[in-house]
Amino acid sequence: MDRSKHLLRLCDWSGNRIIDTIRIAIRLKSEIREGKPSCRFAGKTIGMFFEKPSLRTITTFQVGMHQLGGMPVLLDPKSIGINQRESVKDIARCLSRWIDGLVVRCFEQSLVEQLAEYGSIPVINALSDEYHPCQALAFGQTMVEQFGEDLRGKTVVFIGDGNNVANSLMALSAKLGMNFTLACPKGYEQKKEEIELCLPDFKKSGGEYRVFNDPKEAVAGADILYSDVWISMGQEGQKNEKQSHFVPFQINDELLKLAPSHCKVTHCLPANRGEEITDSVMDNLQINLCYEEAENRLHAQKAVLWQLLH
Ligand code: CP
Ligand code: NVA
Repeated sequence: MDRSKHLLRLCDWSGNRIIDTIRIAIRLKSEIREGKPSCRFAGKTIGMFFEKPSLRTITTFQVGMHQLGGMPVLLDPKSIGINQRESVKDIARCLSRWIDGLVVRCFEQSLVEQLAEYGSIPVINALSDEYHPCQALAFGQTMVEQFGEDLRGKTVVFIGDGNNVANSLMALSAKLGMNFTLACPKGYEQKKEEIELCLPDFKKSGGEYRVFNDPKEAVAGADILYSDVWISMGQEGQKNEKQSHFVPFQINDELLKLAPSHCKVTHCLPANRGEEITDSVMDNLQINLCYEEAENRLHAQKAVLWQLLH
């Protein structure tokens, strides 16, 4: 499979392609603000298959496809019955005869991989247990808007669980030469194979990868702190145990005081206010960029479609 025909995980894309995508996203954002959107996808359709809940991703892919003149089609996982009513192979082959691209939110990364393998249309990962590349691209766009295109040497400190969002932000940082620091309780670090996947890119780009089990130490030198829920979708059964480990990992005013004074904050959202981040930080719009990032989901994903749909 040619992985560059899809967006299955961000580490499959080159740094140049990521920067090009961010440039396209910024252009598409200004076109919308000027009221002159491109109609590149007239007559095209994307399918959207979501096994997990969503506000931002499901809205922005639909609105984005509409803004570019195409049409999204919502596919109902219950009705389709993947691997129950029908095999992934047959679903992928049929969908490829009708639609021009497929956006998938799922539990196991292997599902997006199989849909890409068996079908003949681009597949975009809209979050799996392992990755959230669209979020990372929207974050990249937000960083470029804040700091300019050369992000080398900027330090992103992710405070939370070493899973999907952290993995994709790590890949983004490795490709663009940013330093990526994970601050998490012991046992919630990123998987060794995920880190190893990114190490050659860190080496090439000059970025650095670090892990701390003490958030107070981690925030020194941060340009931006990144927050995510402690309990990811599908992990609801682990709530009590996980929450007790993560309590010291809240982004609050005290923690921010230990970061450099120019340090910003963002969150992929949804946020559990009072858990991983306080109301006071969420509502401090001088430093909190999460709503800019949420706005950029729309444009970054249109840019992904721009790159992949022909
Ligand atoms: N950040 C994000 O992906 O939001 P949703 O889960 O609401 O789509
Ligand atoms: N880690 C979170 C991200 C939500 C956008 C989850 O998987 O639920």
